[in-house]
Amino acid sequence: MLFASMHIIHLLTAILWIGGLGFITILILPMVVKMPDALQKVLLFQRIEHRFAPLARYYTAIVGVSGFIMFYLMDLEGVVFAKEGRFLLFMIIVWIFWVIMLFGLEPLIIKRVLDSMARQGEADGKKLDIEGVFNIMNKLHWVLLTLSLSAATSGAIFAHGLI
Ligand code: HEM
Repeated sequence: MLFASMHIIHLLTAILWIGGLGFITILILPMVVKMPDALQKVLLFQRIEHRFAPLARYYTAIVGVSGFIMFYLMDLEGVVFAKEGRFLLFMIIVWIFWVIMLFGLEPLIIKRVLDSMARQGEADGKKLDIEGVFNIMNKLHWVLLTLSLSAATSGAIFAHGLI
């Protein structure tokens, strides 16, 4: 019963998390990039990112806790570094990368960059040179989405012995 609940929680949280990331990457970011006003662009993106980042932190925690409970219930300690555990290992590596991104880089770097761009734009009202920053953001989101989808694929392969 505990295993089944953890499995369902793990799967549903991954769906919510990657679904949200996909929505931002595929729909919202291209829409924001096309906005003519640089300051509006920064402010809208900053608001979306500020709301999504805390949610993503909860998702990461829930996916990690449910994943490691399954890990211990299945006695996978000996499997994780073996050939048959490579998809499990990949999932864990992507998760660690996300922990570093969301608990380290996002609050320390990305949030600060967006906040300072917004403050600068509001203070002097001049046209911001933000195209480069948005280009990087766009690429970064595609990399994160691809990595997360690869982790989900690895999970399905591992859970169902697909390869
Ligand atoms: C980026 C983070 C992660 C994503 C997107 C993810 C996604 C998934 C998905 C989609 C499945 C397949 C479920 C199914 O087919 O029913 C799965 C299975 C699994 N995940 Fe993760 N996962 C992540 C991180 C983790 C972590 C950190 C662990 C901890 C060890 C973990 C442990 C597991 C285990 C043990 C299974 C297999 C369960 C079984 O064989 O029934 N996952 N994961």
